[in-house]
Amino acid sequence: MTEFSQRVERISISGIRKVFEAAGEDAINLGIGQPDFPTPEHARAAAVDAIQSGKADGYTGNKGILPLREAIATKHETDQEISLSPEQIIATAGGSEALHIAMEAHVDDGEEVLIPDPGFVSYDALAKLAGGEPVPVPLREDLTLDPEAVEDAITENTAAFVVNSPGNPTGAVSPEEDIREFARIADEHDVLCISDEVYEYTVFDGEFRSPIEYAETDNVVVVNSASKLFSMTGWRLGWVYGSERRVERMLRVHQYVQACASAPAQYAAEAALSGPRDIVDEMTDSFRERRDLVVDGLTDAGLEVPTPGGAFYAMPEVPEGWVDEVLSRGVIVVPGDAFGEHGAGYARLSYATGTEELKEAIEIMADATRAVR
Ligand SMILES: Cc1ncc(COP(=O)(O)O)c(C=O)c1O
Repeated sequence: MTEFSQRVERISISGIRKVFEAAGEDAINLGIGQPDFPTPEHARAAAVDAIQSGKADGYTGNKGILPLREAIATKHETDQEISLSPEQIIATAGGSEALHIAMEAHVDDGEEVLIPDPGFVSYDALAKLAGGEPVPVPLREDLTLDPEAVEDAITENTAAFVVNSPGNPTGAVSPEEDIREFARIADEHDVLCISDEVYEYTVFDGEFRSPIEYAETDNVVVVNSASKLFSMTGWRLGWVYGSERRVERMLRVHQYVQACASAPAQYAAEAALSGPRDIVDEMTDSFRERRDLVVDGLTDAGLEVPTPGGAFYAMPEVPEGWVDEVLSRGVIVVPGDAFGEHGAGYARLSYATGTEELKEAIEIMADATRAVR
């Protein structure tokens, strides 16, 4: 017998934290993955009301309160023209738990899960916790996930592949033809596509598209969250949706690991989804401006930066020693290899920070680039 499970011994605490700890107290932090906007007032007010009236005192149904699931269904009907019943939705403790239950419900011991590399750190860890084998799929030069690379990596042992557009850590947005391809691959190979759409509302050019719009089978499940859509990371409220039989399997896991998502957060998210959406446009416009500032600044400094089409991250290719040099000059960025082997030679910058700080950080990064070259 070993003291700890082999599953947990296969994962470790994310490398991102270590970078934060290494930097000084007044460092400019381009390491944080959350919008720098307050949660909408009407969402906060709904939570306060739910708490004060006592509505949020007890457990809710395992899937979450009906008005929230109705608001989520309406959202996806409006945004993606998907006809969705509230029964096909589970409210979760953030997109994080949604990813967890999707993996647990679909991945068997030793089965492969194809994940973008570089990709969001949870994919690798959650695939391992479910007993699976993460298989990194390297991205294209423009940092989008190549459907052909996904298709080539599929074996008889593949349970699922993860699509994340707009993506973390890259900010890359897959074009519509690729999204269609992901749906076709899920259908033809009878492999599950887990589509992580938490940055859905932050797309700078063109429209957001989901593989679930094109799939002809039920081989797509969608993960989404109020965290980045409405600047509600602290509330821990996300959701997952798919066919009823898939949702029923995910519910088995959710019921035991979570019981239900936090009730006040459910009321807040319902209000965010049903109320005015000014904050969404405001955030997207503001991130677009900051994206331009960062891309122009880093390009002028001589770095190659694939232009991010969404989210609030940029991922320049950086010379050897660049990340340490930038950190030592008081700007926190995350080394690309924290997101997978193929992230080596890149750095992730989150530009969800004030414009003045961002300008200062760009100057520091330009100086650091000259120093290491
Ligand atoms: C790609 C991606 N998916 C999921 C999540 C999880 O977000 P949350 O659990 O806050 O909804 C994050 C958070 O950074 C993310 O970047």
